[in-house]
Amino acid sequence: MFFWGICYGQQLIKTSKIIHNMKVTVHRKAHFNAAHRLFNPKWDDAKNFEIFGKCSNPFYHGHNYELIVAVTGDVDPETGFVMDLKVLRKLIENEVLKEFDHKNLNEQVPVFENLNPTAENISVVVWDKLRKAIDKNLELSVTLYETPRNYVTYKGA
Ligand code: NI
Repeated sequence: MFFWGICYGQQLIKTSKIIHNMKVTVHRKAHFNAAHRLFNPKWDDAKNFEIFGKCSNPFYHGHNYELIVAVTGDVDPETGFVMDLKVLRKLIENEVLKEFDHKNLNEQVPVFENLNPTAENISVVVWDKLRKAIDKNLELSVTLYETPRNYVTYKGA
């Protein structure tokens, strides 16, 4: 027989005969196009090409970035949400897409003026921007696909 009960104090929910710990992860996917050049200014073009290959092209090149933002926390007993995904979508739009989409990251996004715009560094920058705006009780993880096969994840610290 199905029954449903919530213990508010313990953040536990009982469905059927299982008692669940209510930590759940919600995800929002987003997309942006951007150009970049990977290089270390201390190295000459030959050394940059050796390390970064085609990504060190001095004339830049673009990627179709796929961003996945994951937020983990307790399920609010009032709403049934970890976080309102409408709010998360707007946050990603305002904090990330407005600044990055259809931009040259090296030339047009100030944080990358002296920071190599690798997928690793972009994911950390995105995490920093979102962390400030998301409830401290929620865990945040950012996954960034630079190509369908190459992707990075940053969870803070
Ligand atoms: Ni590249």
